[in-house]
Amino acid sequence: MASMARVLTRASKQASFTSTPLCRNFTTATRARPTTSIAAPIRQTGRRGYASGGSAGGGSSKIAIPLGLGLIGAGGYYAYTNDLLPAALSGAQASKTGGVLTPTKDDFQKVYNDVAELLENNDYDDGSYGPVVVRLGWHASGTYDKDTKTGGSNGATMRFAPESEHGANAGLKTARDLLEGIKKKHPWISYSDLWTLAAVAAIQEMGGPKIPWRPGRKDGDVSACTPDGRLPDATKEQKHLRAIFYRMGFNDQEIVALSGAHALGRCHTDRSGFDGPWTFSPTMLTNDYYKLLLEEKWAWKKWNGPKQFEDVSTKSLMMLPTDMALVKDKEFRKHVERYAKDNDLFFREFADAFGRLLELGVPFEKEEKFVFKSTTD
Ligand code: HEM
Repeated sequence: MASMARVLTRASKQASFTSTPLCRNFTTATRARPTTSIAAPIRQTGRRGYASGGSAGGGSSKIAIPLGLGLIGAGGYYAYTNDLLPAALSGAQASKTGGVLTPTKDDFQKVYNDVAELLENNDYDDGSYGPVVVRLGWHASGTYDKDTKTGGSNGATMRFAPESEHGANAGLKTARDLLEGIKKKHPWISYSDLWTLAAVAAIQEMGGPKIPWRPGRKDGDVSACTPDGRLPDATKEQKHLRAIFYRMGFNDQEIVALSGAHALGRCHTDRSGFDGPWTFSPTMLTNDYYKLLLEEKWAWKKWNGPKQFEDVSTKSLMMLPTDMALVKDKEFRKHVERYAKDNDLFFREFADAFGRLLELGVPFEKEEKFVFKSTTD
């Protein structure tokens, strides 16, 4: 599909819940602004080119480059082993450590940079693979069950049928295939670390907050695939949302914070059956999702597809029944209002919840987390 360059003519009205005005123009900018700042009052209307200058993606090169990557906690190295590692090691990497690769924070930053480089594509959706990569990280992790301690990002079991064919995962092959080139270039990284790191990169590159991340996931085999039905069903409402997210160990506030990722991307009729984007800036993470939920009038869309809402004034945006449940339910709504008023608060609480989501069920051996340098830093 050609890149979206839609501009709606409806006058921008000042929002009652805003710290910043809600933009009514479709924009597709990525890497738009520094992180953890207030939403930019005017979204960029053009896409910024992905400069490769900042990329240290040099294959297996081990030349130290001062990337300014933050490391939370002490120690710069993470001794990393992976079940798939010995077969996958390249000569240069193996020779560094005599057979066992010990990737450094710089190695992970190189993977980040290579993911960032891949995200923008004018011929795909709204100009970025970022949203579908975020959805991959979320669906890989959101299968976690705290009681049985099964599922979660460890294992990357979505590589295998039946999990890859679960209805909820429709369309995620696009993201998995996209990241295959990165896996080939950095064969030492596990798929499960790669998918979660890529989701972090996508959030940061789409103007979202920094998400501290740590490696340590190991790839599993088909026997670890989770049963169908662990991910949320968009046709349902608050009771279902609570059942699904409480099972992962999240609370009401975290459910609402995580749902703010629907500021990004769109629904596809050939994937979920639903259609359209949630916001006018589907390649930038902002609190617009919450503002729109509160400020727009929403009505059932009249069409032959699954039941979804459309905004009455432009009929160009959508909400799922599960999205609308966040304003119908009193407890959820409190948090929608908090985030609609304060983008920084949303970023902080989203970063906490999303970081935790990506770690569900992973038996980490190290506490240290990396904060990746964004390409716009
Ligand atoms: C609360 C329950 C949720 C439901 C019912 C739900 C449902 C959906 C559905 C039906 C789609 C459209 C898929 C397609 O047709 O391509 C979608 C897309 C998406 N979801 Fe969710 N989701 C939920 C929570 C989340 C969470 C927690 C995140 C991340 C933190 C997330 C991130 C995304 C993103 C980024 C997209 C856009 C993907 C793209 O543009 O290709 N969602 N979701």
